[in-house]
Amino acid sequence: MKTNIVSTATGKANAYALFFVKKSIQFSNILSEEAEKQVESVLNGMNDGPFEDLEFLEIDNQPTIFVDAAKERGLSSLDHLRMAAYRLAKKASKRQIPVVSIMLADAAPEQFKSILLGLHYADYKFDAYKSKQKEAFQVTFEIVAGEQVAEFKKIAEVAAIENKAIVLTKNLINTSASDLTPAEFVENANTIAKFTPGLSIKVRNMKQLEKEGFMGHVTVGKGSSHEPYMITLSYDGSKGARGTKAAGKNVNKNVRTSADHLVFVGKGLTFDTGGLCLKPPKSMPEMISDMSGAATVLAAIQAIATLELPIKVSAVCCLAENAIGNKSVLPGDIFTAKNGKTVMVDNTDAEGRLVLSDGLAEAGLIGATHIVDLATLTGAMVRALGYAVAGFFCNDDALALNVINCGEACCEKFWSMPLEEEYADALKDHFADLKNTGSDAGAIAAALFLQEFVPENTAWAHWDIAGTAFVSKSWKYTDFGATGFGVQTLIELARRMSSASDESEDAANEDADGEYATVEV
Ligand code: BES
Ligand code: ZN
Ligand code: ZN
Repeated sequence: MKTNIVSTATGKANAYALFFVKKSIQFSNILSEEAEKQVESVLNGMNDGPFEDLEFLEIDNQPTIFVDAAKERGLSSLDHLRMAAYRLAKKASKRQIPVVSIMLADAAPEQFKSILLGLHYADYKFDAYKSKQKEAFQVTFEIVAGEQVAEFKKIAEVAAIENKAIVLTKNLINTSASDLTPAEFVENANTIAKFTPGLSIKVRNMKQLEKEGFMGHVTVGKGSSHEPYMITLSYDGSKGARGTKAAGKNVNKNVRTSADHLVFVGKGLTFDTGGLCLKPPKSMPEMISDMSGAATVLAAIQAIATLELPIKVSAVCCLAENAIGNKSVLPGDIFTAKNGKTVMVDNTDAEGRLVLSDGLAEAGLIGATHIVDLATLTGAMVRALGYAVAGFFCNDDALALNVINCGEACCEKFWSMPLEEEYADALKDHFADLKNTGSDAGAIAAALFLQEFVPENTAWAHWDIAGTAFVSKSWKYTDFGATGFGVQTLIELARRMSSASDESEDAANEDADGEYATVEV
């Protein structure tokens, strides 16, 4: 897919795409008066005649594709646009249309970005394991941007960086577990750190983890022939360059910088067999995605550093393989976590929370003011909210609101779950301080367990992405496999936290109240 952003149509297009919602065409100010009338009569006739999404009609003597920007149920208006662009790109590639012109002269910037991301999503394929790779037909999308050309070009640069992060996340997740071991993940992270200016990396291997008392990793990882690792990536944009690269390096060293240190922590089980509490075969292949949290935080910090967002951000990847071996942790074993609490391993399949206890400790050691952890943590969350909504738990109201709002702006849905203290007692063990399973409310029990390891006075949000990270049937812009869920919301969170610290808190609050223009659907 190529894009070419122009002020007026070049006349080179083989087809024109018009986005419509019910009876009105969106972003249509470039149509001739005659064409407006034609379009109106087409849309008026919609109820009577066979008129469908992606229908081709002659308007102004040009082949015109009508794209329904409100087709699916339950999506935000921005997501409708993204889906519509995705479908359009798929259709155009299938029909081998070389150049498609999209009329967006009067689209709002965030609408344009959403459409662009939809086109990018359509371009993704993961065929590394196919014996023959099929080349998809390359479509060029001419974006008619009117007076917004310069702004749209900047947005396109930002969207390309974000898309790269989404693609990286998906590729890591979709790679099978024997090819993406903890050591391989480290290799990937090292390469990323090397080629991303401003991004530094620290890697701890099994020996170092044991020496420093990160026993969650050791306990989970010791049963595998692939040793566990913990990676800490750091980027400090709070001093120096302001604004994004794509915004043209708006350098102003006098602007107040953020005192926040946002730390992402990602569950990185490159495979989860369940350990000695073995999983049933049916649910096992999907466990290649049990490192989704780690992949997402790695990709997000890469994008944040590339965009040069003015905030300090770190990402901790907690990598291990939960396998069966003669050194595997045994149910009933007790270990001492990094913060000194003792934990009895009641169920070896509840391993994510054990490695995350180290990730949370590391976040505290490096001075986190805000922690967001991402984990494919519980089957209970999948049963509660399915694949379309991620549940999150949070100990800080402002951060919780920020998560919801950032998610909404990125077309990623979050639902706030309770850290229900009544269930905390169920985590108590006879011999140890804690055990790693709790009440029937599995997702809440896991979050309450994690809370035991959150450093004091730190705002913390835990995202359980077990349902949203990977889909086994077609969902929105993913056919099968990794969705890339969370990457954009993390980037947006860093963006909003950095802008709230420099200009004014008011601006951030306005954002939170819905800066994004909506299309009536
Ligand atoms: N990785 C799984 C959770 C999971 C389930 C992720 C489905 C993606 C899709 C996790 O390690 C796990 O096995 N959790 C157990 C915990 C239980 C033993 C307390 C679960 O949820 O069943
Ligand atoms: Zn497990
Ligand atoms: Zn797991």
